[in-house]
This record gives sequence, structure tokens and C-alpha cells, in this order.
Amino acid sequence: MKRTKVLTVNSKNPSPYLIEEAAGLIRAGELVAFPTETVYGLGANALDPSAVKKIFKAKKRPSDNPLIVHIAHQKDVYTLVKNVPPACQKLMRAFWPGPLTLIMKKSDVISDSVTASLSNVAIRMPSHPVARMLISKAGVPIAAPSANIAGRPSPTRVEDVLFDLRGRIAAVVDSGPVSVGLESTVVDVTKKIPVLLRPGAVTLEQLRRTVGKVTVHSITYGRKYHGKTASPGMKYTHYAPKARVILVVGPQKAVWKKIDSLCTTLQHSRKKVNVIAHHTRAWKATPVVFSSTQLYARNLFSTLRHMDAKNVDVILAEGVPERGLGLAIMNRLKKASSAIIRV
Ligand code: TXA
Ligand code: MG
Repeated sequence: MKRTKVLTVNSKNPSPYLIEEAAGLIRAGELVAFPTETVYGLGANALDPSAVKKIFKAKKRPSDNPLIVHIAHQKDVYTLVKNVPPACQKLMRAFWPGPLTLIMKKSDVISDSVTASLSNVAIRMPSHPVARMLISKAGVPIAAPSANIAGRPSPTRVEDVLFDLRGRIAAVVDSGPVSVGLESTVVDVTKKIPVLLRPGAVTLEQLRRTVGKVTVHSITYGRKYHGKTASPGMKYTHYAPKARVILVVGPQKAVWKKIDSLCTTLQHSRKKVNVIAHHTRAWKATPVVFSSTQLYARNLFSTLRHMDAKNVDVILAEGVPERGLGLAIMNRLKKASSAIIRV
């Protein structure tokens, strides 16, 4: 077990000296977790296959699940891919830097260890000042999945990174909690019509306003998928806390009635029940209420982790409408839940 160094920096104005220390570790082939605007990432030099392999080992990630390559400047994309299609250009101009990952045909610079032997590579230019400075100072693109043990909710705070990865990575750059809270939107732009693979803070509505037609992969709606997938990571159970999550969807009053009756039944059989909600009312079990979709997204993963720490047996979640950021929230809730009840 190695000592994991914690480098604490200001999120808007990070110390160049501490970021240089983290960048040096990346260049030396070590793993460094760092904040992005979406979630914390677990970074390694994307051009060093043996460093990339360490990511899979540290987070116990199946080797057939490819990684996102992070860059600091738009121009850096051109050496990493074969071509940048016109729709991709528009999306880059509209949403980079920001929470949007674009899948393109990879160039020979990208090794099979990054893409799990796929011919496409996922590229993202984050907007977080710490991530930008780290990639710039490292002088290499950084491959980074979310900095959690595979199958656990993505980390949105340094405590979550350390809970999962302390002793398994060289360092973590800490700049406090992230702002978005859900992983980036993933869009495949190798197809004639772009395909939304994972919903995020860049919404489907925004994508369509920018490029016109965008198709939506069925997995985006959180359906279980067993076939050959467009995005290998999507077939794994993600975001699963230890507690049983039951998601309740439908007309508001009917949802409330159902959650109330489930609370009563479960508490009768001595289960510790919590509610994740987006309305304030007299809930029958301890609630965590998010008054906006932005707050729901930002705090969902840390709330799931917090409820696990309290040994909650069952989490009853109130669904949100599947539009705007709500599509991403529902996608993660469905992946976290063992049952979805439609009333
Ligand atoms: O916000 C985010 O995207 C964060 C931060 C750290 O940037 N990263 C992240 O990475 O969520 P990860 O590895 O947890 O999720 C990446 C997703 C996976 O579902 C993976 O299968 C998919 O993107 N992906 C990566 N490369 C791909 C490729 N070449 N083709 C299709 N899907 C790909
Ligand atoms: Mg992940």
C-alpha cells in the first residue's frame, strides 16, 4: 500500500506549484485523481500504456471498458483522431470546454489500452481550472475515468475519492466539491447522425439546437442492455450503493402515496428507510430534498454514499421528468436502483 498524497488547492485560482507537483507524477507514469466540473477523475498519461494499465488495476475496472482522454486546448484534438466531422466541430465550438465527451475515430497515437481495442476514442476538454492547468502542465493528454472503485457512485468530493482509492494511487488534487455532480454527456459523432450515449449536463435539447438531428441510444433511458453496446461501460451496473434503491415514477400525487405506503411497510419490517425527493412535504421517512434539478444532480452521488455510511437499508427515490438535466438524473437513478415502480 502506498501513501496517497493530498494536494489541496483553490478551485478558481490553483497554486501552480502544487499542480506542477501533480503534473510531474503524471509524467512519471503515476496515477493522480483530480477535480473536473462533473466528477473527480483518476488520471494517467494517456500516451503511456503502462500508466494507463494502472488505472484499470487501481479502480478494479473491467479491461473492456475504454477511457476518456482529457485535453486542455481544442487544437490538441487533431493529433489524437483521424478526422473531426462537421457536427463534431459545431459541438466542440458550442460546448468545449465543458461537460461534453465526443467519440471520434482514433489516430495511431492512441493505444489500445485506452480504447479497450476499439477503433474510436472518447475526447473531452473539461472547463474546471484545476483540470485545465493539470493537463497543460503535464504536457500530455490525460486518460481519466471517474475516480471510484468500479461499480460505486462516482466521486464528487475528495472524501469519496479517498474512501475508494486511498493507498491505491499516488496523489489526489483536492479543490472541494464539484459543481455538476454527474458525469459528462457522451455523444458518438462517428455516425452520420450523432448518437447520445450518456446524458449529462449538456442536454439533449442543447445538442439538437446546435446540430439538428441527434438520435438517442436506448440505454440512455436506463434500460438494461445485454447486447454488443456502442459504449462498453454502459452494460455494467453503475452508481450502485449498498442500500437497495427503489425508484418511483408517475403522476406526483400517486408517487407520494406509493412512497408513503412503501415507507410504512418497510418500517414495519424494521428496515432503515430514507427518501431522496425533490419536493418538500411530510415524508414518512428521513428525507433529503433537492429543490432544483441542478441540486439533485450535484448532490445525488454524495447522498447515496452518505446513506450507505449510515447503513440505510432502503432508499426510496422520487423520480423527476426526463427532460433537460432530468434525463441525466433519471439515467443515474435507474442504474442505481434495483426496482423501478411506475404508478
Ligand atoms: O465526466 C466525465 O466524463 C468523467 C470525468 C472524469 O471526465 N469521466 C468519466 O469516465 O465518467 P468513465 O470512464 O467513468 O465513463 C466513460 C464512459 C464509459 O461509459 C465508457 O464506456 C465510455 O465513456 N467510453 C469511453 N471511451 C469510449 C469509446 N471509445 N467508445 C464508446 N464509449 C466510450
Ligand atoms: Mg465511471
